[in-house]
Amino acid sequence: MDPTQEADGSPPGGRDRRPIARELTVGQLAARGGVTVSALHFFERVGLLTSTRTAGNQRRYRRDTLRRIALIRVAQRTGIPLKEVAEVLAVLPQQRTPTREDWAQLSQSWQARLDQRIRRLQQLRNEFTDCIGCGCLSIDRCLLVNPDDQLGANGPGPRVLDLEPAEPPRDQLP
Ligand code: FES
Repeated sequence: MDPTQEADGSPPGGRDRRPIARELTVGQLAARGGVTVSALHFFERVGLLTSTRTAGNQRRYRRDTLRRIALIRVAQRTGIPLKEVAEVLAVLPQQRTPTREDWAQLSQSWQARLDQRIRRLQQLRNEFTDCIGCGCLSIDRCLLVNPDDQLGANGPGPRVLDLEPAEPPRDQLP
């Protein structure tokens, strides 16, 4: 065995020091990003990701796409609508790798939205937790009470618990 290599052919120390590919195939991106290939196709269709095509019409993704996917996945887990993620990601340049300044601009543009979301969730926790499992709908103290559906005159949907506008259907996302 070559003493300058590990059993798997990588350099000593266990860390593969081969150059990192600048572009990834859809399979590589899915594996590293922890998403399915069909999810990547969907993200691309709604404008969250972009790719280029090889001469053989195969997709190739810049390596920084992994950071976009990480952001999308965390946002999804936190219940942030993809439409909002798309709006935030739109500040990043599509034709080149985003710089540190580009990501800082994204972070700044999202700050107010995230703060607003946190405030709304705190409001939900503070004001409505008591109602879960209570069911009294007390006219004196329950915030969910809506006699004769008076709040219906203000429009459809949960007028008291109006946390977010409804997310549009997937085919209407940008
Ligand atoms: S259901 Fe009892 S306080 Fe709201």
